[in-house]
Amino acid sequence: MYRTIFPWALVLLVGLLSACDKAAESVATQETLSQVGAVSDVAALDRKLDAALIARGSAIFEKNCAECHGANGKGQPGDWRIRDADGKYPPPPLDDSAHAWHHPTKVLMEAIRDGSPGGEGNMPAWKGKLSEQEMQDTVVYIKSLWSDPVYRLWLQLEQQSLEP
Ligand code: HEC
Repeated sequence: MYRTIFPWALVLLVGLLSACDKAAESVATQETLSQVGAVSDVAALDRKLDAALIARGSAIFEKNCAECHGANGKGQPGDWRIRDADGKYPPPPLDDSAHAWHHPTKVLMEAIRDGSPGGEGNMPAWKGKLSEQEMQDTVVYIKSLWSDPVYRLWLQLEQQSLEP
């Protein structure tokens, strides 16, 4: 029965992703997570994330990113979905609780490399400050923050994004 619930959770997620509203996304995240909770007892996931890269990414994150995204990517106190006085969104958590995991690796890398699109937000561009390898290390670290059910959902999105 668990195996039949999972694809529907994914269909729901993909449908909701097309509506790119931060508040709606967060509600979607909670609903999706409560559904995938049903599959959390399947065999432990082999993520194939390299421990050395996670450790490197963690150190780079602590030094450059934690001031905004919080220790362990848990974000800041307050609601990341409500704009600040400057009209821009606060830094979101990068763990399960927000929507970093809705993005394939390529999009996460773009967010880090280029910062907020068109300077419309407060995410700095790291191109020229961190090497491509260092940015990749932070992405591996961010993936290590996700729970198994969320990682599984992300993996499906990643595979879809790689299809020709
Ligand atoms: C000065 C504060 C600040 C720092 C430092 C910072 N970020 Fe961000 N980051 C943000 C904000 C704000 C956003 C939301 C962007 C927007 O609204 O356009 C964001 C968004 C992101 C996203 C996209 C998240 C999503 O859910 O779509 C990723 C990934 C990310 N940051 C990673 C990093 C990494 C890795 C570093 C360190 C190398 C870093 N950030 C450093 C403020 C910061």
